[in-house]
Amino acid sequence: MEVFDEFGRVRRTPDAVAYLHDLVNSEPALAELAAPVPELIPWGTSGMYFTGQWSNDVDVLLKVGVSETQRFWTTIIPERAPDLAPRVFAVGDRLAGTEVGWVVMERLPSGLHDGWGGLEFNLLMDAGVRFQRLARTVAVAPYADLTGDAVHDWLVLGRERNAPGPVDAVLERFEEDWHFVNRVCEPEICHGDLHMGNVLMRTLAPEVSPALLIDFEPCRMPWVFDAAYPQVLNSDPARTGWRGMPEQMADHRRVQGLPVCADEDLARAATIALAWYALRMWGMLGPIPDPAWRETAVWREQNRGYIEAGAYAVRRT
Ligand SMILES: Nc1ncnc2c1ncn2[C@@H]1O[C@H](COP(=O)(O)OP(=O)(O)OP(=O)(O)O)[C@@H](O)[C@H]1O
Ligand SMILES: [Mg+2]
Repeated sequence: MEVFDEFGRVRRTPDAVAYLHDLVNSEPALAELAAPVPELIPWGTSGMYFTGQWSNDVDVLLKVGVSETQRFWTTIIPERAPDLAPRVFAVGDRLAGTEVGWVVMERLPSGLHDGWGGLEFNLLMDAGVRFQRLARTVAVAPYADLTGDAVHDWLVLGRERNAPGPVDAVLERFEEDWHFVNRVCEPEICHGDLHMGNVLMRTLAPEVSPALLIDFEPCRMPWVFDAAYPQVLNSDPARTGWRGMPEQMADHRRVQGLPVCADEDLARAATIALAWYALRMWGMLGPIPDPAWRETAVWREQNRGYIEAGAYAVRRT
C-alpha cells in the first residue's frame, strides 16, 4: 500500500492508518513500544502519530513520516542540549521494510499558550536563539539555504493573491533590501519553522521552564526572519507580547553571545522582514484564514500595516 499522498505527506485514511499500525507493530526496532495507539491529531500536516509507552515506563510519541534532515536534527539537538528538544528513544528510516522515516520521542505534556500573558513569545525567541547557537557547533549538518529568488517569489505570490498595502513598492526595493538584511543580520542556520505549534514544555503553567522545540526545518537565512515569521502569525491585538519579536530575539542573542547589529539597522531589517513574511503568509493563506484562528479584518489590517511599513522602511546611507 502507498504510504504517502501526492504531496509527500503520510496518508491518514483509515486503511492507510491500519496499514501503518501493522508496520509499527512488526518493526523490530519498535519492540519496546508498548501498545501504540494512532493519534489522529488535527494540527500536524506532514506526519502521522502514535502514542504509547517506551519500555512500559515513559510516555512517548512516535512520529511517522519524518524526513532525513528532520531525523538528523531531532536526534542531535537533545543529545547536545537536553533542554532544547524532547528526548529521543529510537529512530529509523524504514518500518518493517517499508521506506518511511520515524522517530520515537518523549511526549511532552504542554505547549505555550496565551495564559502566559506574552511570556510565551519571549520563551519562543529564547529557544530559537539556543537553536541558532547550537547549530553553529554542528560541523556537518543538512539544511536548506534561503535564496533571494525564493523570497522574491513569496512577494510575487502575495501580490497575485491581492495582499493589502503598497506591495509594488515593497517589490521595487527588493534587491537593495535583500542585500541590507543579509549584511546586518548575518545568515545562519535557524530553526526554520519557529511558530507556537512547534514549541513545547516539560512543565505545566504557571511553572516556567525552558521551551523545547520540535519539527525542525533548518534553514540558513538572516536570523531576523526566524523572529518575523512568528510575529506575523501571532499579530492579534487581543493578545500581548507578540510585538517586537525581532528585538526580543536580538536581546537573547546578546545574552547568549551571538552577534547583533546596531539598533537602527535592526529596526530597518525587522520592518523589511515583517513585510516579507506578511506577504509570504498572505500568499500561502490568502485573505480569509481559518476564522477560529484569526478574524479576517484583523488579518488584513495587521498585514497591511507590515507591508506599508516595509514599503517605506527608512533607508540609511
Ligand atoms: N514530543 C511531543 N510531545 C507532545 N506533543 C508533540 C510532540 N511532538 C509533536 N507533538 C504535537 O504534535 C503536533 C504536530 O507535530 P509536528 O509539528 O512535529 O508535526 P508536523 O506534522 O510536522 O506539523 P506541521 O508541519 O503542521 O507543523 C505539534 O504541534 C504538537 O502539538
Ligand atoms: Mg509542526
